[in-house]
Amino acid sequence: MPDAAPILVALETSCDETAVAVLRGEELLASEVASQIALHAAYGGVVPEVASRQHLRALRPVLTAAMHTAGLEIGAVDAFAATSGPGLASSLMIGACAAKGLAVALGKPFLAINHMEGHLLSPFFGTGIGVPPSVALIVSGGHTLLVEIEAFSRYRLLGQTQDDAAGEAFDKVGKLLGLPYPGGPNVDRLARTGDPTRHHFPRSMLDSGDFHFSFSGLKTAVRYLLPKLETPHLPDLCASFQEAVVDVLVEKTVRAANTTRRKIVAVSGGVSCNSRLREKMQQACTRHGLRLLLASPTLCTDNAAMIGYVAALKLARGETSPLTTDIDPNLRLAA
Ligand code: KG4
Ligand code: ZN
Repeated sequence: MPDAAPILVALETSCDETAVAVLRGEELLASEVASQIALHAAYGGVVPEVASRQHLRALRPVLTAAMHTAGLEIGAVDAFAATSGPGLASSLMIGACAAKGLAVALGKPFLAINHMEGHLLSPFFGTGIGVPPSVALIVSGGHTLLVEIEAFSRYRLLGQTQDDAAGEAFDKVGKLLGLPYPGGPNVDRLARTGDPTRHHFPRSMLDSGDFHFSFSGLKTAVRYLLPKLETPHLPDLCASFQEAVVDVLVEKTVRAANTTRRKIVAVSGGVSCNSRLREKMQQACTRHGLRLLLASPTLCTDNAAMIGYVAALKLARGETSPLTTDIDPNLRLAA
């Protein structure tokens, strides 16, 4: 990448992470994330007003830290990007207003970025292969989507959850089992020493003949089983629940790749940190002759580097957003 590549600052405040990234073209110079997990843990979930107030407090120091790591002054920045949706309205507003303010003050362009496009393309970041035709699974706390990528910015929604997102199921089951918030990483950790065949939980919609998902029945199955167990063995419960989620995600993703005849599978979002999902997805892709690209763990959960990557691709095509672009808590990725 030549030195003339534009310097980009990206802000991500869609939920409970205050994140700032600095890029030179597609090269990542800095990525800072201030997590609010500890702040929300006491409530067992994200409290929107607490989140937005914390974004306000954290954004400036996180931006300063990112610029320091990148070794740049704010005056060197060529464009400012921010997540404009989907997410919590009051949280989205903080990052979007800050990026617009900086863009106006410094007379630079602004780019509004879809958080889901950030997740979607994160497995390609740093690979040097661009955005190839592929099938992508996004599994986060708020979304579970199967998407066909034709090219950058050309996406077709193949299927999505009809109720809870995969991460939401992990978090709700974690709560049922008395694990700290968020449940996902804790269920993953306990499952490592558990027996995934100990309890049989439903593989919902596995044979529905489409690419949709459903995870709320699985959570209910765990809730009904718990009182029947004299001494619940948490590792076995976690491993059995996790196996049911992973089996459906892997099977439907591979079917989607085979149906669309795409040879590359890209998996992203917070749940793609899950060790069993990474392992079983890799085994299935190898078996079916598919190339698997997994977002690196620092890019799986919410971060601004993935927002900056999408912004860099847009900027390279001369695309910017008007300052009148509003946030949209329900912003969609594709029809
Ligand atoms: O992508 P993300 O950071 O935020 C959203 O945009 O939603 O995803 C957060 C979700 C949470 O539900 C969290 O429990 C889940 O990702 N998660 C995991 C793991 N790490 C994070 N779920 C299962 N196993 C993990 N190792
Ligand atoms: Zn996310």
